[in-house]
Amino acid sequence: KEIKLFCPATIANLSCGFDVLGLCLDNAGDEMIVRKSDQKGVRITKIIGADLPLETEKNVSGVAALAMLETLEELDFGFEIEIYKNIKAGSGIGSSAASSAGAVFGINELLGRPFSRKDLVQFAMQGEKLASGNAHADNVAPALLGGFTLVRSYSPLDIIRIDSPEELFATVVHPQIELKTSDARSVLKQNVSLKSAIMQWGNVGGLVAGLYTKDYDLIGRSLHDEIVEPLRSVLIPGFDLIKQTALENGALGSGISGSGPSIFALSRGEETANRIAKAMSDVYEKMNLPYEIHVSKIN
Ligand code: HSE
Repeated sequence: KEIKLFCPATIANLSCGFDVLGLCLDNAGDEMIVRKSDQKGVRITKIIGADLPLETEKNVSGVAALAMLETLEELDFGFEIEIYKNIKAGSGIGSSAASSAGAVFGINELLGRPFSRKDLVQFAMQGEKLASGNAHADNVAPALLGGFTLVRSYSPLDIIRIDSPEELFATVVHPQIELKTSDARSVLKQNVSLKSAIMQWGNVGGLVAGLYTKDYDLIGRSLHDEIVEPLRSVLIPGFDLIKQTALENGALGSGISGSGPSIFALSRGEETANRIAKAMSDVYEKMNLPYEIHVSKIN
């Protein structure tokens, strides 16, 4: 018995929601096959498209799967995982999250769904811990639940799925450099001023309210990051120009995707999202910088 999965890419943070907000892209992601096997435990049998470890304990899929199986009574069978990577490591669109979420989702299906999708988040987070040293859930939650998600609390874990308007699209450009999440986290300050915090939580509330009420202007006004973007944007080639170009071409807002270097823009309607993609491409063409670009509906 086996299951073939699409493991979606995700955009975490969404400017104001560092470590708490994320969304799922519907046409960018990896594929995975999870198969029941007579041999107990979890084995990664194939990885195509990336140079990643096959050892279960060193692979994010393996670690997430083991975290899940540890909570169950011992099984007299095991699982094999084949991973077909399209999302590049260190791209900022949830490469490790896609693999962690895929493994626990696939095994849960083959076991007859002992866990809800929300329950699976805690296991997939262990893969994120292996990848970046920090068990953040803002990529794995949207990868598992789809659409927009909010991590209302980490302890206890409380994941909320947020309704969003039909016509929201994301444009994501990936300048072809690798930025490790652990490095992008090391530039952050451990304390924020009350003034910055007030702006940030005002925007998080505004963004969530805008998504629920389908108020595109409010979504746009709220896509602002007072705390993290100023420290990280210097690590990303052409960041200011790409962001400005996105806004000039009709984006509701734009910012760093996850921990970068990808840059996202949200827009109303596919036409605007495609126009932004063209304009962003022009910027990197002129800079002679290799890049990849996606336009995706948010589901
Ligand atoms: N919230 C995490 C960070 C996401 O920005 O470090 C990493 O993809």
